[in-house]
Amino acid sequence: MSNLLDGIRTIRDLPIDNKRTFIRVDFNVPMEDGVITDDLRIREALPTIKHALERESRVILGSHMGRPKPGKDNSKYSLEACGIRLAELLDAEVHMPDDCFGDAAKKVIFDLRAGQVCLLENLRFHPEEEADDEAFALKLSEMAEVYVNDAFGAVHRAHASVHRMAKFFRDRGCGFLLEKEIAALSKVIGQPERPYVAILGGAKVSDKIAVVETLLKVCDTLVIGGAMANTFLAAKRHNMQASLVEEDKLALARTILEKADAAKVEVDLPIDVVVASSTQAEEGQVVAINAVPSGKMALDIGPKSIERFSKHFGSAKTIFWNGPMGLFERAPFSNGTFGVARAMASSSAFTVVGGGDSAAAVHAAGDGLAAKMSHISTGGGASLELIEGRKLPGVEVLRG
Ligand code: 3PG
Repeated sequence: MSNLLDGIRTIRDLPIDNKRTFIRVDFNVPMEDGVITDDLRIREALPTIKHALERESRVILGSHMGRPKPGKDNSKYSLEACGIRLAELLDAEVHMPDDCFGDAAKKVIFDLRAGQVCLLENLRFHPEEEADDEAFALKLSEMAEVYVNDAFGAVHRAHASVHRMAKFFRDRGCGFLLEKEIAALSKVIGQPERPYVAILGGAKVSDKIAVVETLLKVCDTLVIGGAMANTFLAAKRHNMQASLVEEDKLALARTILEKADAAKVEVDLPIDVVVASSTQAEEGQVVAINAVPSGKMALDIGPKSIERFSKHFGSAKTIFWNGPMGLFERAPFSNGTFGVARAMASSSAFTVVGGGDSAAAVHAAGDGLAAKMSHISTGGGASLELIEGRKLPGVEVLRG
């Protein structure tokens, strides 16, 4: 695989000293009642922001937050809480104009002194952002002299501030987070050290087909858990009773199993599961995979499956994980996901966790597990698209 960063300059090589430098960040952090529940994406952007400030840039940060709808009250999608958190982390003032362009924003930006930073309001407050609108991108670009993209979580989106805007800059490149993400994720699809164990979970087989196809070309063992395992188990004629099964994907599941066989990739599925009558149940019951009771649904993998899956990690040199093993947000069904996270964290392999739910699960598991992983991606959709081998508009546009 060619290096995805070939021909792309990093912020180290860009002439940002004393310049107005626009940095696209992904501050689309989880929030509850106006409070940030996980500031990882903000902390991960700090090395790039600090580097720019140390080089006396006038830093203009732009981000999206959520998916605001035109004509609705979108105040909950304001980036204000992120600006406040960033100011705490930087221990410096963060100027926050209440729009991403217009006279007020221009005044804030052109008044910035070297080594000062501002955070523009949510770019998606303007529908032109998601439309990759040329005029909107041009207006944004007129505020800066250098363009840096460090928003790994958003590089799969051909949106104005991620894509079209970059074209207006001769001096454009990536930040440290984007560089780090691409290096780590490329390693699990390029020439990974073997044995290589990939572990996939989550709700649907259909979301992961392209990822599975890629992984079958590179891994030695493919472990499948979570609700998507139900479809594979049903394809192997297990009666999954009331479990979530994608009936229309049974043939696809069989084809994947055949392809794995042909590629000599071992596929490991759960041998026991935690079942309950509903997702709201207060407790679950562990049953063997061939004994799911009538009316019950599998909501987590069982202890024997955790043990069996974890054994693969002992000798692995590379482990890639995407998708929870069960309904980990509910305590009775979290053991599988947390157990796999613990086993992965204690392995000496190069361990990469895809973003989104799996990253949230590692953080929710506590015990300092996150620090023990080699890399936890900040991008959900972006990390999957990279693994699938799709072109990422926000990366491609930085070349040249
Ligand atoms: C994410 O959270 O995956 C990114 O910030 C992209 O957000 P989006 O899916 O709303 O484009």
